[in-house]
Amino acid sequence: MLIDKEMRLAEIIHHDFTLLPVINRFDMHLGVGDKTIAAMCDEKGVNVDFFLTIINTFHDVQYFPAQHLKQFPATMLVDYLKQTHLYYLEQVLPAIEVQIENMEKNCAIQGNTLILLLNFFKEYSRELTHHINREEEVVYPYIIALEKTIETGRVTGDFDQRMKYYSLTNYKQEHENVEEKLFDLKNLIIKYLPETRNDAYCHAVLRELFGLEHDLNNHSRIENLILLPKIEEMELLYKQIER
Ligand SMILES: [Fe+2]
Ligand SMILES: [Fe+2]
Repeated sequence: MLIDKEMRLAEIIHHDFTLLPVINRFDMHLGVGDKTIAAMCDEKGVNVDFFLTIINTFHDVQYFPAQHLKQFPATMLVDYLKQTHLYYLEQVLPAIEVQIENMEKNCAIQGNTLILLLNFFKEYSRELTHHINREEEVVYPYIIALEKTIETGRVTGDFDQRMKYYSLTNYKQEHENVEEKLFDLKNLIIKYLPETRNDAYCHAVLRELFGLEHDLNNHSRIENLILLPKIEEMELLYKQIER
């Protein structure tokens, strides 16, 4: 089902609950009443076409209109990606840590598996945070500066220097490393957790990890398949600007 602008927000949240944090990233909150997507986007000053494209890519993994997504301004894409980072750093990672601690308190698991799990999670959390910081400090400002330079047609010496030292070579690899680590974390619980009678606590952690994985896959797909090619195309345009 493709979500369109005449649908009501309440209806799509009922239909796919995982869309709720995505809707949140556009400053839309619970208590949506009977508002349609078009009305809500209008109220929040959100580009409805962009909203629908993002929501639909999240809702249906088969739906990924790369050419269409690439046409949105870099600033719009980056704003959305930054909101997603905030969600990971301020909501998801702290929630998972609390849930692992709950497991520790309530599951009476023998041995040091839970300490191992908590340490592994903290390591993962550090790696993801480091990756996010690099994007916010280097990658995103670079693409925005590139877009602005092309729009104004004015190249400054400073930017020429910046481009020379900039490299995206390891960027995709970094995404793969973060993904692998999350998979290992899930596996640690699925395969190696000693038996416990309080399964609900363990299920809660796993549910959160699977949710994070689904969200991160969508996020990295936009970065790998939209942001990177967009940078490459813009770099070509940049080189054509007359000096
Ligand atoms: Fe990111
Ligand atoms: Fe990323």
